[in-house]
Amino acid sequence: MKGIVLAGGTGTRLHPITRGVSKQLLPVFDKPMIYYPLSTLMLAGVREILVITTPEDAPSFHRLLADGSELGLDLTYATQAEPNGIAEAFLIGEDHIAGENVALVLGDNIFHGPRFSGMLRDARDGLGPDGDGCVLFGYPVKDPQRYGVGEADDQGRLISIEEKPEKPRSDRAITGLYLYDGQAAELAKQLRPSARGELEITDLNRTYMEQGRARLVDLGRGFAWLDTGTHESLIEAGHYVQVLENRQGIRIACLEEVALRMGFIDADACYALGEKQARNGYGQYVMNVAKSFSATR
Ligand code: G1P
Repeated sequence: MKGIVLAGGTGTRLHPITRGVSKQLLPVFDKPMIYYPLSTLMLAGVREILVITTPEDAPSFHRLLADGSELGLDLTYATQAEPNGIAEAFLIGEDHIAGENVALVLGDNIFHGPRFSGMLRDARDGLGPDGDGCVLFGYPVKDPQRYGVGEADDQGRLISIEEKPEKPRSDRAITGLYLYDGQAAELAKQLRPSARGELEITDLNRTYMEQGRARLVDLGRGFAWLDTGTHESLIEAGHYVQVLENRQGIRIACLEEVALRMGFIDADACYALGEKQARNGYGQYVMNVAKSFSATR
């Protein structure tokens, strides 16, 4: 399965912060925002990942993540010149996807919860090796009008989907993580821009739904799907991460740790990555993770 992180957009809702820096590079407590969605793709076992940014911000993302080889990843880059909609990612990424199954994650979406990697594995397996259909993830929110909103039948099949409806038919927001079969790019090409001039991901998902090939998995209570779209939600996401990390002594979305646990790198390589930043708590954490991983093998 291929992966795409969409980290474009103008971030106008976070101005003036995002006038000088990309939204997806802003800190969420102790790491850049993009670490979180990137770790989501890694937990799904995805290693070949296209990072789509604005042309202006591309050098900063490259400086941060390079080619990903240190983490056992294969990262490539592309740009989205105008905010033409999320589904444009499949047109920009068509060569990268090369007709395979693909997972798309939005660069500002933070997922955290128990058994998440198992859930991702199941979703991926549910799509099958040759892929048929799409898997979306739903999350109950109190303000569904701000999101794509969906409903599923008792078999988990998507039966309705609307983008930012004034009168939502459910409280189930469609989160910014989407798994598709190899037809996503073909189907995206057939979409017409919406009233706001964008190729809407909701329209692509509706196409799959109308073909009876869309599933909606419930992330459920106790799971955290965090938004970073406003000043308040950005700082709340940071506090969430801070509280959990300080209480448990863990780090959420530590890419070096995820790469180690997923078997993308070995403990020696992980330790070496930590050693490079041994003067701060993040680097020391990475070194400790590598040491205890070796000790338990
Ligand atoms: C986009 C999608 C929406 C989805 C949301 C998740 O909205 O259009 O369907 O629920 O991402 O973050 P946007 O954040 O671009 O308004």
